This record gives sequence, structure tokens and C-alpha cells, in this order.
Amino acid sequence: MVKPTVETLVTGGAGFIGSNFVLHALDTHPNWRVTTLDKLTYAGRLENLQKVIDDPRHRFIEGDVTDAAVAGPLVRASDIVIHFAAETHVDRSLQEAGAFITTDVYGSFVLLDAARESDRLRCFVQISTDEVYGSVEKGSSRETDEIRPRNPYAASKAGADRLAYSYWATHGVPVIITRGSNNYGRHQFPEKVIPLFVTNAIDRLPVPLYGDGKNIRDWLHVEDHCRAIDLLIEKGNAGEVYNIGGGNEVQNIDLTHRILELLDRPTSLITPVEDRLGHDRRYSVDTGKLRALGWRPRHPFEEGLRATVDWYRKNEWWWRPIKEADPAYRDYYETQYGRRHDGRA
Ligand code: NAD
Ligand code: TYD
Repeated sequence: MVKPTVETLVTGGAGFIGSNFVLHALDTHPNWRVTTLDKLTYAGRLENLQKVIDDPRHRFIEGDVTDAAVAGPLVRASDIVIHFAAETHVDRSLQEAGAFITTDVYGSFVLLDAARESDRLRCFVQISTDEVYGSVEKGSSRETDEIRPRNPYAASKAGADRLAYSYWATHGVPVIITRGSNNYGRHQFPEKVIPLFVTNAIDRLPVPLYGDGKNIRDWLHVEDHCRAIDLLIEKGNAGEVYNIGGGNEVQNIDLTHRILELLDRPTSLITPVEDRLGHDRRYSVDTGKLRALGWRPRHPFEEGLRATVDWYRKNEWWWRPIKEADPAYRDYYETQYGRRHDGRA
């Protein structure tokens, strides 16, 4: 029997996790038609969707989730919405939090409000984050724990997370909320620690390690994250929160050593720098609820990190233009090497 077409809207699908999800979805669901809605901010890269740009089952729409005239009709024409679009970098939220409130909170409101009027929507996945729990000194966060976000990014995500819940509780929107841990893999913008350190190390540039380097993050391979979201669309309960974590808790200093080793670079590249303000010490999620549905991460961290480093090594075309467009990187390179980054005199 031919399965009916499922109209799926992916917001933020030109970003890191969103693009991995779009590619995964088109590969694994022959009956899905996917619409990507993305504003193409600095973090949105159309090249992430290169493989599917001409796929008749995919269409790309450049637009802003805060624009109800664009986003509303797309939500109302969908069976499934997966809402990734957000401002995502903690350090940027410390400098300028306005865009985080606008996109992460207000943007989620616009989509949820449109979802409220839909009579066909069967699942709205609100992509939240483990950062909403705040710093976890001991043990692991469970979905029922209090949320205590400690930086503007985490607070804006927490606002959206609870707003999504409220649209389920009050209006019956079929919302599922996911709280994923730190992702890694292809297409991650080189401002986040793994791609930043990998690309700096490739260029033999210093890697700036915050504070004492002992902060802990739980690393989740982006493909394992995509499979978890997929499973929750099928088996998750509306109105519920699900943690997603890789079970790979690593101190930043150890992560840095592994990256340098994989690239055969000296540890002298490690440059301790001033700590991030309000730097959360540790994140850790209990994933029992998701595992009870049958999910397990498939990528051991050692292997996943090696493959990710290889991806950046082989895909300079992807990241070098991004870094070269950044004046801070150009200055840094020139001071470091006494020559221009592009090899010109
Ligand atoms: P990213 O920064 O790589 O991509 C964000 C995407 O959203 C970009 O394509 C950008 O152009 C788009 N976007 C931004 N503002 C928009 C707007 N107003 N309208 C439409 N599109 C807009 O982010 P990511 O790392 O892929 O994260 C995706 C989601 O997953 C976010 O909601 C983030 O909070 C969440 N999350 C990320 C991680 C992680 O480790 N990266 C972990 C857990 C949860
Ligand atoms: P990041 O990739 O920004 O993710 P998040 O803050 O969302 O966890 O940072 C991961 C960890 O790496 C975090 O503890 C901060 C640290 N870090 C550095 O030490 N140096 C850097 O240049 C960056 C960007 C992050």
C-alpha cells in the first residue's frame, strides 16, 4: 500500500542540526515532503542543503519564523513541524541577547499560535536543550526537574520550552519537547567549541580554552539526535518532555587534547583565556525515558569525534570561507603568521 504524503515543516533547516535532520528525513521517509523555513542568518548555510536543493520532495523557503504572514500558512499546511530555528551561541547571547528573545521566544510563539489553528497537525516538536536545567554539579537531570537556566540563551530556550508546553496544556497543540545535550558532527558552525578548535588546529592556530578547562559537556552525535527526534515523532506522547544525551561526559581540556592528538598538533596550541561569564560547570541528562522507547546512541564518542575531525579536514571549502569572512580571524591569522590568510602578499 502506498503511504500518504506527510507534509513536514523544518524551521532552521539550513543550520547545523536542522540540515542534518532534513537530509536524514528525506533519506528515511520516502513519503515525507519537507519544507525548510530558514532566515539564513550567519549560521544558516544553504550549502548544507546542497544535496537536496533539487529534490522534488524538498523545498527551501527563505523566511523568518517571527513573520506570521510567512510562517503561519506553512505551519497550517503541515502534518509535522520540527522547530529548530533559533539563535544558539551562548557567547553571543552574553553580548547581545535581543535576537535570542525575538527568535527563540517570540518566534516559537508565532509558530505555536499558528499550530493552534491547525486541524491537520499531528506533531509539533519543540527543540529545546539540556541547558535549560542550568549547571548540574551532581547527578543527572530528569525531565521532571526544575529548570534553572543561567544565561540569556538558555533562558530564552527555557521560555520557548514552557510556552510550547502551555500551548499543549491550554490549546491541545500536540507538542513534544526535546532537551538535547551538546551536539557534534558535520555542518556545525565554527564558533562552537569542536569545529572552532578543529579548524584552528588545522591552521596551527591557538585554541582558546575558557577558565580552568574543567567544564563538562555531554556529547551527542548529531545523527543520534536526528534518530531520537524521529522516534519521538512516532512514539512520543504529546505534552511530554524527553531528554536526549549521548552519555559522553567529557571535560573541555580532555576534549581539546583528543582533538589535537587526532590532528597531530602540539598541546602548546592550548591557550587558557578568561572564563565565560556565568559559565555552566556541567550538563548531564538522564535519558531513561527516551531509552525506554528503544533509542540508543549508535556513535561511540571516539569514533564520532574522529569522523567529525575528518569531515572538517576534507571539507575546507565549507568552513574556510566562513572563517575568512570574519575580520577577527583574518587579523589573528596575520598576527600569528605574518602573512595574509589567503596567501596573497
Ligand atoms: P544553528 O545556529 O547551527 O542553526 C540555527 C538555524 O536557525 C540557522 O540555519 C539560522 O539561519 C536559523 N534561524 C535563526 N533565526 C531564524 C529566524 N528568525 N527564522 C528562521 N530561521 C532562523 O543551530 P543548531 O546548533 O543547529 O541548533 C538547532 C536547534 O537545536 C536550536 O533550537 C538549539 O537551541 C537546539 N539545540 C542545539 C544543540 C547544539 O549542541 N547545537 C543542543 C541542544 C539543542
Ligand atoms: P560551546 O560549543 O559554545 O557550547 P555550549 O556553551 O552551548 O555548551 O562550548 C562548549 C564548551 O566549550 C563550554 O564549556 C565552553 C567551552 N569553550 C571554550 O573553552 N572555548 C571556546 O572558544 C568556546 C567557543 C567554548
